[in-house]
Amino acid sequence: MSLHIGDIAPDFEAETSKGKIQLHNWAGNSWVFFFSHPADFTPVCTTEMGRTAQLSADFAKRNVKPLGLSTDTVEEHMKWIKDVNDTQHTTVDFPIVADHDLRIAKLYDMIHPEESTTEAVRSVFIIDPNNKLRLTMTYPMNVGRNFEEILRVIDALQTADRNSVALPADWRPGSEAIIPPTVTDEQAKGLFPQGWDELRPYLRMVKL
Ligand code: BEZ
Repeated sequence: MSLHIGDIAPDFEAETSKGKIQLHNWAGNSWVFFFSHPADFTPVCTTEMGRTAQLSADFAKRNVKPLGLSTDTVEEHMKWIKDVNDTQHTTVDFPIVADHDLRIAKLYDMIHPEESTTEAVRSVFIIDPNNKLRLTMTYPMNVGRNFEEILRVIDALQTADRNSVALPADWRPGSEAIIPPTVTDEQAKGLFPQGWDELRPYLRMVKL
């Protein structure tokens, strides 16, 4: 199944390292950072799980619940989490889906046969509180994700939602935003009484 931005994230019930969850119900009014891993007891995955745990306060501050997935059992997850905590000097406190039969990996198109037919690639799904997919990205098995980018894009999505803006290349919180072309100058006057800098009629920069 191929999933697109704007689709409702397919709901599922699954066993995790924190018990059984049903995705939409578990998410509640939070955003979800759903990310997959090829397998337990693998080096890159271990660093990514650790990084997510180390950033737990940063995710919580943004009202984001991390949800991992790895194609192994709950028993293996529990043993692996001990290794992650030990080697990455942290405490994994978010659930990891036990997807040993690849049911969820297939539902979310995480199996890319040229990489592996039995293990998930490194997929990311950012899901908003309406259960809508807002961002997807896919990394190969041999490259770990950039967690600064994951937090940055969550900030960007939340800023865009709050302020009816778009965000430029390499945007960081506090830097200028863009008034989208779908907003007329008349509407922009109401939305941005502080004014904006018009570099071109289609390129209007605004400080928030
Ligand atoms: C890893 O997590 O280190 C890994 C997993 C599968 C293939 C390559 C690397």
